[in-house]
Amino acid sequence: MRKKIVAGNWKMNLTLAQGEQLINDILAAGLKLEEGQEVVVATPFPYLTKAKSLLQHHPGFYLAAQNCYSEKSGAFTGEVSAEMLKSVGVDYVILGHSERREYFKESNEALAKKVDLVLANGLKPIFCCGEPLEVRQAETQNEYVAKQLEESLYHLTAEQLKDVVIAYEPIWAIGTGLTASAQQAQDMHAFIRAQIAGKYGREAALGLSILYGGSAKPSNAKELFSSPDVDGGLIGGASLVAADFAAIVKSF
Ligand code: G3P
Repeated sequence: MRKKIVAGNWKMNLTLAQGEQLINDILAAGLKLEEGQEVVVATPFPYLTKAKSLLQHHPGFYLAAQNCYSEKSGAFTGEVSAEMLKSVGVDYVILGHSERREYFKESNEALAKKVDLVLANGLKPIFCCGEPLEVRQAETQNEYVAKQLEESLYHLTAEQLKDVVIAYEPIWAIGTGLTASAQQAQDMHAFIRAQIAGKYGREAALGLSILYGGSAKPSNAKELFSSPDVDGGLIGGASLVAADFAAIVKSF
């Protein structure tokens, strides 16, 4: 079902005490979520259990992990499986963030395996896609994103796709303050929806939530979210400040 989602990706930030305070401040911000609106908090792995205990009694608020490993279980020291995330009450798992693709060389093929493991454990992938600056400058961003979708998602059935959320994050807008324009975001979101429609049909495409990420702030969220194919945001820096994150949520 197509939902309006604002997800906060804390990345590798905050201590446990700071994270607990942030969640409590967000919950105290008086956010009134309507049917179909969701707020998701993606904490670092060590804070997931505490975050779940804080969020679980608040309808509309959900917990995400920022990654999982591409194997079911076994001798992979230091890694965290989708099954482990399920066991601590995670709802969503961010997959394929550009920082993981860059720093940890995550391939579209490995991400397809992660998508399968997340879905197999009853969790929902927030699948990240988006182009680097040089691709945008060459105006080949559509081909670039289409390849990410094809190689990581197109093995899924239409039924499985119902549990997938896509996040378009132009890499050149992440953490740079250089937000994509509302038109640029709408154009790519519409392209992604059209690609999904071509593969899975119009109904599947219309039911898909597509989030925008990349320097979304209280000052630009309302315009970004007003676009017909933008169903919310995946927020980095602004998610670390309760007042800013709450302001973005109010921009639904
Ligand atoms: O996952 C969201 C993140 O990549 C966006 O970061 O700081 O540009 O909002 P930021």
